[in-house]
Amino acid sequence: MSEKGRVGILISGRGSNMVSLVEAMQDGRIPAVPVVVISNKPDAAGLERARALGVPVAVVDQKQVRPRSVHETRVVELLNDYKVDLVCLAGYMRLLKKTFIQAFRGRIVNIHPSLLPSFPGLDAQGQALAYGVKTAGCTVHFVDEKCDHGPIIRQAAVPVLPGDTEDDLSARILKQEHRIYPEAVALFFNPGLRVEGRAVHTLD
Ligand code: GRF
Repeated sequence: MSEKGRVGILISGRGSNMVSLVEAMQDGRIPAVPVVVISNKPDAAGLERARALGVPVAVVDQKQVRPRSVHETRVVELLNDYKVDLVCLAGYMRLLKKTFIQAFRGRIVNIHPSLLPSFPGLDAQGQALAYGVKTAGCTVHFVDEKCDHGPIIRQAAVPVLPGDTEDDLSARILKQEHRIYPEAVALFFNPGLRVEGRAVHTLD
């Protein structure tokens, strides 16, 4: 790994988690540099936010670059061009396939708005409300071949309050996402993480 970690962030939308990661790198809470933000959608609002923070951006438009395997290869090539050590998925609405996972095995992390293994997949907050859970939350985990499945680095819980709408709950969870994602990425670089089966240990 290079002296200071090099992080690539993948987004598809508004990019609030991307902003929380970039800010944490820029103010020294994460000992790494955000070297590129890549979107699979040209109209992702997060692209402008990344530019405003001075981070290089790239778009690999999934409607233009097809089929999916070619799109995925192009994103991997870009991340390699930028010599990325760690890939952070931040609202990247595309499942990663074999090429990607193999290229960055053990070096891809994701944030998901539920307490995994509950409510993987789309609309996790809606799933939690529909199920009637009293505690919801978010999870930062390594990415493997299965959706929202790899070893867990950090989790945070929030209460589900009477009368909560999906927006209320999502906002409460998002606040915690912005806290634990930078914490988890900081751990990846310093002191480092060791994965044993499903258990993630810090190296200190
Ligand atoms: C977040 O809730 C994240 O957990 C999920 O997608 C949402 C992305 O939000 N994977 P943002 O683009 O980071 O604001």
